[in-house]
Amino acid sequence: MRIVSGIQPSGRPHIGNYLGAMRQHVALQEAGEDCLYIVVDYHALTSLRNGEDLKRYREGVALDYLALGLDPNKAILFYQSDLPQHAELAWILGTVAPHALLERAHAWKDAVEKGNRDMNVGLFTYPVLMAADILMYNPDIVPVGADQKQNVEMTRDIAEKFNHYYGETFKLPEPQISKEVGTILGTDGRKMSKSYGNTIGIFEDEDVLKKQVMGIKTATIDLKDPMPIENDIILSLYEQFSSSQELDELKSNYAAGGFGYGSAKKALLKKLLESFAEAREKRTQFNTKNLGEIMAMGAEKAQKLANITMDLVYKNTGLY
Ligand code: AMP
Ligand code: TRP
Repeated sequence: MRIVSGIQPSGRPHIGNYLGAMRQHVALQEAGEDCLYIVVDYHALTSLRNGEDLKRYREGVALDYLALGLDPNKAILFYQSDLPQHAELAWILGTVAPHALLERAHAWKDAVEKGNRDMNVGLFTYPVLMAADILMYNPDIVPVGADQKQNVEMTRDIAEKFNHYYGETFKLPEPQISKEVGTILGTDGRKMSKSYGNTIGIFEDEDVLKKQVMGIKTATIDLKDPMPIENDIILSLYEQFSSSQELDELKSNYAAGGFGYGSAKKALLKKLLESFAEAREKRTQFNTKNLGEIMAMGAEKAQKLANITMDLVYKNTGLY
């Protein structure tokens, strides 16, 4: 099976990215699937305004992937902007993508409803660039977090439109979303997102992670009283990293009273540090020295596949 996915280097990856996407990406590679993972720096330009930041985050995301187990000899890892054909295909797809379809995008609608005056055209056409990333490689499956379902559906709609006008060119990909993970909540109870500043990191220093975990919003109750287990952010995160027995133990501490949110947060922090111990250790050994070679190798492999698609697109549209 051909697998394609991407992650924006608009900040450092967080545990929401890991649980919703990166963990599956590494597992699919290990299952022997034919995987392409794209560090989508063109996409990040819609929200970043500083070249140094983009450069740092771009390398950071690539190194984080490698530390989490991505093997560049098994999966193709590359920077989107190393293949300008992604932007070219996005333009071409934009000429068939209905404006009304893009207006229905949740991300766009939310921003419009909030009266955000900083909206740029790139944010509006974001799903078209994502469609280009995906359709370029004709994947069977696109493993993403729940928040990206609509974008993958839009990719299918755009591919159908293109095929309708120009004949069978693109395969329609299926989103693959882990149901047990769903949407990971951030420290304030909203979706964990780089843009909300409510994330818990993976590779940050221990004191930074501690601060993030200690900042999780909790109910206000008396220490001696039982703590409610419904809608509890700490438990929802703990569940993702622990066995059902460990989860039950923490829940019974909640129910017993006299436990306190401080202790619950400490248990979560411990769990996180344990879960990522190996990756964190690995991450300290990497530097950016041979990263350039790894990414160039990925781009070269992706380029071969992209050429095949672009040739067909030129031929079918008459651009040849
Ligand atoms: P992004 O950081 O927006 O590029 O997201 C990269 C991947 O992580 C995508 O597949 C997202 O769906 C996934 N993701 C981001 N935030 C979350 C979250 N809070 N819960 C689950 N998956 C997420
Ligand atoms: N929009 C995705 C996100 O924010 C990132 C992305 C860009 C992507 N291109 C992609 C995901 C192609 C999967 C496939 O998470």
